[in-house]
Amino acid sequence: MRQLLINIKQLYQVEFPTDVTKAIVGKSMATIPYISDAWLVVQDGLIHSFGVMDALPGLVADEVIDATGRIVLPAFVDSHTHLVFAAPRDGEFVDRIKGLSYEEIARRGGGILNSARMLNAMSEEELYDQSLARLHRVMEQGTGAIEIKSGYGLCLEGELKMLRVIRRLRENAPIPVKASFLAAHAYPVEYKQDKDGYIKLIIDEMLPRVAGEGLADYMDVFCEEGFFGVDETARLLDAGWKYGLKPKIHANQLHHSGGVQVGVQHNALSVDHLECVAEAEIESLKGSNTMPVLLPGAAFFLGIQYQPARRIIDAGLPVCLASDYNPGSCPSGNMQLLLSIACTQLKMTPEEAINAVTVNAAVALELQDTIGSIRVGKKASLIITKPISSLAYIPYDYGNNNVERLLI
Ligand code: NIG
Ligand code: FE
Repeated sequence: MRQLLINIKQLYQVEFPTDVTKAIVGKSMATIPYISDAWLVVQDGLIHSFGVMDALPGLVADEVIDATGRIVLPAFVDSHTHLVFAAPRDGEFVDRIKGLSYEEIARRGGGILNSARMLNAMSEEELYDQSLARLHRVMEQGTGAIEIKSGYGLCLEGELKMLRVIRRLRENAPIPVKASFLAAHAYPVEYKQDKDGYIKLIIDEMLPRVAGEGLADYMDVFCEEGFFGVDETARLLDAGWKYGLKPKIHANQLHHSGGVQVGVQHNALSVDHLECVAEAEIESLKGSNTMPVLLPGAAFFLGIQYQPARRIIDAGLPVCLASDYNPGSCPSGNMQLLLSIACTQLKMTPEEAINAVTVNAAVALELQDTIGSIRVGKKASLIITKPISSLAYIPYDYGNNNVERLLI
């Protein structure tokens, strides 16, 4: 099967001899290589060749797509989501508007525990159907690869149920799906007075099952005051490593909790959230291979401070952006809206933001060899936009869907 795209207004994130399989850092984030008036051939799902229209070779194709006025770019990679959940939490949303904080709601047994109650009461089949519908919706909005976490089971059966749903999504979805094991998301009610008991349950009973069934790629912990402290996080990450699960953790969302440092010390693939980041955290990220992943959709929805993206980029580090799609702190997996928030609130330029959700996000999921940029031999995981004026129009036209077609 051969598809030929012609008259592409601009083809973005093309790899010239430069190596876009590594993260794009610091000042380099400000530019994205592109060619104007381009053509591109997809052969059996892989990028076969591309170039400028003036030099279009004579080609026979099964499908010719005229992309006049349209931009083509790599599909978005969403490296941090909680897309598998049972039900929305719009009641808590109203409680927060009326003055309760996210942490107060959690302390009263709402929040993650509320989601856990609803998830444990739902059949695996129904959970799968709902999650698949969500996955299709984010794909319509341009997501071409995704990470999904467990963490609303908080017991062996519930965590396994979530991870099996993620495995089924991976088997049936046309895009790459990665799974993270996040039993350390909150302490279940039965363990409120026995936190050590819950950590032992995760390490001694859940991890061997999860790893034994090959259900997870990564180990996640909500490292935060009132949730899992630095020492507990360290124990959990060490245990995950014994099963080959690389850390990808929630860090520094609500406090300067030491999460970034403990992640870096444990060779985390990424540390995610980073609302509370200052010099100490930035210093620890320098010289590491840990990707800073910013989740401004959650800061937007909770009305808390935004991540200091500029300081991180100006320190010469890479930045990745992800949605954090979940029913509590960010009930949207719309990556175009995320780009708008990153540009307007974090003061990232459109080029920086798009680098953050393509090449750098692929690195944050270890998918940089197969997706994230336009290179011969990589998977054709592409967005064809609607007719638009420029790349900047995507974040500018906030709240609207400028993806015409996801080519995968
Ligand atoms: O990334 N912060 C921890 N976990 C999620 C929220 C989970 C929830 O509220 O359901 C987050 O924001
Ligand atoms: Fe999260």
